[in-house]
Amino acid sequence: MSFSIERYKEESKKLDTAGVAWDTVAEHRLSRGDLFCLHYMMDIENHVPLYLSHLLVTRACMDPILTAFLACWNYEELWHGENLGKFLNLYGIEFDTQDRIANVRANLGFQNSVSILSTMAGSWLLKDFSAVYLSIGAINELTTLTGYGALIRKSGHPVLKDLLGRIIKDERRHFAFYFNSAKEWLSGNEKAQRVDRWMLDRVWVPVGKGVKTQEEVDALAVYLFDDEQGEEELLEVDAKIGKLPGLEGIKLMSKALYEARERMGRNPSWGQRLIDNEAWAVAPPKKSPIGALTTRRAAGD
Ligand SMILES: [Fe+2]
Ligand SMILES: [Fe+2]
Repeated sequence: MSFSIERYKEESKKLDTAGVAWDTVAEHRLSRGDLFCLHYMMDIENHVPLYLSHLLVTRACMDPILTAFLACWNYEELWHGENLGKFLNLYGIEFDTQDRIANVRANLGFQNSVSILSTMAGSWLLKDFSAVYLSIGAINELTTLTGYGALIRKSGHPVLKDLLGRIIKDERRHFAFYFNSAKEWLSGNEKAQRVDRWMLDRVWVPVGKGVKTQEEVDALAVYLFDDEQGEEELLEVDAKIGKLPGLEGIKLMSKALYEARERMGRNPSWGQRLIDNEAWAVAPPKKSPIGALTTRRAAGD
């Protein structure tokens, strides 16, 4: 798996959706589980700029190759979120994308600022912190594309299959960048390997956790991966990440699935109740209405 930053810069572009059969989106039914996953995935794609804000307070901003990648990556991810939103709107679920994004962010509140500050401190205290976020980037991209593959399989929706298939191609390139960069950083650097392993074993959480609750993460994991093929795919994700120097035998995604199963064992309605109750709307924050946070004003104000 190779990656050329020069080629990526030249070729990076907005997701090409020419020929997607948008007009037939509502003709094929989706289950509540499919819809739950789509909302989750859209929210996480739309959260990328805030994730980026974390990366840019770290030593990452010193590396021009990394910042060039992030500039293009952020733009590509924007169109993943936009197109998932468009798909849901065309399916018949009404929401205003901008309001939804603003609500998701506003609901993070103080926690987001604390998280930025601790990432910043961690990065400046630990020289090898870069290895950690590069590894996490690789895991997140690989998990995301594996999740999209699982949703294609679960939903059987032809238009969704076409759209997600196109997004998966972007995610593969993102994975290649993060994986190769992490490998480069970790190769022959035992100290970095130890820091990376320690952090991943203790601090790592599945993509979306933090924006989403543990129960939402579990609902998605169990819906997409709690069958023989799904479990195998998560073990493959772990095996691929385990090829990074110092991460041999690491268990991340499979562990997350087993822990989700345990929580479900203790409370059988755990996760599934969110899907059954169609709990995918995002409530506006109790304090700080969107207008106060974004300075956007309704027409006529
Ligand atoms: Fe994406
Ligand atoms: Fe991505």
